[in-house]
Amino acid sequence: MFVSTIVVGCITFTGPCKVHPVEYSRTVVFYLLAILLLCICALRKELNMFISLPMILFYVLYVCLIVKGQLDCGAAELGETDYLRLNKDEEGDLVELRDASYRLIDVLGETVEREIATISSADEIADKGNYEHYMLKEIFEQPEALKATLQGRVSEKYVLPEAFGIKAPAIFSKTESVHIVACGTSYHAGLIAKYWLEEWAGVLCQVEVASEYRYRACVVPKNTLFVTISQSGETADTLAALQTAKKSGYLASLVICNVANSSLARASDLVLMTHAGPEIGVASTKAFTTQLAALQLLCISLGRGRGLDRKKEQQLVEALHQLPELCRKTLELSGAIEKIFQPFVDKKHALFLGRGVQFPVALEGALKLKEISYVHAEAYPAGELKHGPLALIDNKMPVIAVAPNNALLEKLKSNLQEVKARGGQLFVFADHDAGFENEPGVTV
Ligand code: F6R
Repeated sequence: MFVSTIVVGCITFTGPCKVHPVEYSRTVVFYLLAILLLCICALRKELNMFISLPMILFYVLYVCLIVKGQLDCGAAELGETDYLRLNKDEEGDLVELRDASYRLIDVLGETVEREIATISSADEIADKGNYEHYMLKEIFEQPEALKATLQGRVSEKYVLPEAFGIKAPAIFSKTESVHIVACGTSYHAGLIAKYWLEEWAGVLCQVEVASEYRYRACVVPKNTLFVTISQSGETADTLAALQTAKKSGYLASLVICNVANSSLARASDLVLMTHAGPEIGVASTKAFTTQLAALQLLCISLGRGRGLDRKKEQQLVEALHQLPELCRKTLELSGAIEKIFQPFVDKKHALFLGRGVQFPVALEGALKLKEISYVHAEAYPAGELKHGPLALIDNKMPVIAVAPNNALLEKLKSNLQEVKARGGQLFVFADHDAGFENEPGVTV
């Protein structure tokens, strides 16, 4: 009796195997043990014990667990750095994730197999280095990421004609306007590009949130290039917008993207990879800055033969080459910025202001604050302040402004005066020569 109970216990315990290697070897050992014990039972004529009522209940339980085990065994192992690459015709697949295994189910409910790719930079992903979290690591990776975006696309002075692929020059030479569609941070990058495209390249540009674009009727001007921007290349609204655009008579589609072979990359006519490296942190950081560098390359490429002469191109490319180093120097300020923003810690609301190209930068600042700190934040073009939002400003409201020394500086200063007059707490990111000084209520 004793021996047969052990036998059934062993079989029941080991039956519902999964394919995890540790469990698999354990299963093999226990089955061998069970067979051995069965042989001993047979020799000791105890086999009749196996048809008693409790034993039958054991068998039923065993069979149930085996069936469940078979389901688990239908799953395959997934390593920490593996990812599944699904093709377009595999849309609708479901992934059932378990501890160390997965199973893929297609739209018909059948278990299917798909191609598995392994992320090459596994060590980079698995290791946060000395950083507290991935987002911080990714913020500090910006200089290298920017270098990677520019590499192979610019010579010392010019953007290479085929930076966007061999088909690009023919498409760009026909392009008369650009329609940018994206979500979140990528949308903000697009808003910034609109200023550059219209100012430098003389190309008409409209920018739209993908979740709006995809549900509205849109008039497409002749020879319009449809541009999507996406870190992941998988954002559902952006992808759906591209599918809509493909039926709407655009000249061609271009994606600026960080993930090779992503759905957007596969579905677009032209692809520019930002090469920012994997972004694990939920908030987009290095993806955003590299998107901006990529968009500058686009403005320069489209500007040729239009609003942008060779001299201006050279200036812009030289500035692009300086970008990684400037970014590195800016990151050195992180300790000082942390101290300056101590009074900010208890705040419940914040307002970001900017003018011109700094307005979308302000939008991005507000998005980051909301997303990371759960602090309510809004962004306005500084000139809009007097049309309502000024009413919100008092000594509890921190106002963050971006103030480069450019043609709009004086206008911005007069807006910030209005904030000060209402007792708002100003935090200004200013150029050295922009003429701001620390004073009560103003931190520069
Ligand atoms: C914000 C953020 C999101 C993404 C947005 C689009 O920090 O990460 O707003 O920018 O979800 O994602 P992608 O760029 O992958 O299309």
